[in-house]
Amino acid sequence: MDSGFVIAVGTAVLLMMAVFIIIFVAYYQQKQANQQLALKELQEQHRRELMAATFRGQEAERRRLAEDLHDGIGTMLSVTKMSLNQLERQMNGEATMKTSLQIQKTRSMIDETMTNVRRISRDLVPTTLERFGLLAALEELADRASDGDVQVHLDCPEAITELPPPLTLMLYRIGQELVNNAIRHARARQIDIQLYCVDSEVRMSVLDDGVGFDFDAVMENKQGGLGLRNIESRLSVLDGHVTFDVAHGRGSQIHVQVRLADTVPTPVAGLA
Ligand SMILES: Nc1ncnc2c1ncn2[C@@H]1O[C@H](COP(=O)(O)OP(=O)(O)OP(=O)(O)O)[C@@H](O)[C@H]1O
Ligand SMILES: [Mg+2]
Repeated sequence: MDSGFVIAVGTAVLLMMAVFIIIFVAYYQQKQANQQLALKELQEQHRRELMAATFRGQEAERRRLAEDLHDGIGTMLSVTKMSLNQLERQMNGEATMKTSLQIQKTRSMIDETMTNVRRISRDLVPTTLERFGLLAALEELADRASDGDVQVHLDCPEAITELPPPLTLMLYRIGQELVNNAIRHARARQIDIQLYCVDSEVRMSVLDDGVGFDFDAVMENKQGGLGLRNIESRLSVLDGHVTFDVAHGRGSQIHVQVRLADTVPTPVAGLA
């Protein structure tokens, strides 16, 4: 056989093998990259599910606490008050002025404790949110947080889309945390909650005119609170996003946005 022909065939076979190996390596690498991507997606999904389960557990625990508070301590306080009233009647006008005053003082202390128990139960479980929706719940939050020192105002210029319950609960909890922060840390006099839906996206902002803070320093502090970190974790479950427009010496502006995936907008009443 012609040696030139043998070399040509040999070269062709070697070339084909080389091409084969290159294709195989490329295919293998692509497969590995796809597997890694799928693993990453799975891990991300798992992390979200874990986070969602944590928040569900937290809400269930709050509900249990609220029920125990209301049914246990609330009922005991009512019974104590009834017993005190009975004692007063039994004394039948024989009580001295000092004793009467003491009974009155005890009664008002019981009343105050009952009011506090109701307030704490309401904070733990937002019944207004469940019954009347996000706007009503935020309005109630603003009303309750307002007093002589601070004014909290809810601004919802347009009709907002009817939102799924997990999203309304998340937005309410975030609003609650941000308003609490502005009251506790900012020494704010004016707090504005803004809520609106734009292009199948819901946005909520909480603005205050307080003293501000250094966001990086707060986040680096391992001993710090959980409120702001929880906001990021809550949002990551629903593909949401938070922007902290904050600095020392000026009011804080915190903006939250969440895409409304596959929701058909159904306008409900706004506060225009
Ligand atoms: N609106 C604000 N104005 C000024 N400082 C703020 C504001 N919000 C947060 N901060 C600062 O950021 C810190 C962290 O807030 P974060 O809500 O994470 O924790 P916390 O409120 O201290 O505790 P927790 O929320 O767990 O009860 C606060 O301690 C405070 O110093
Ligand atoms: Mg906080």
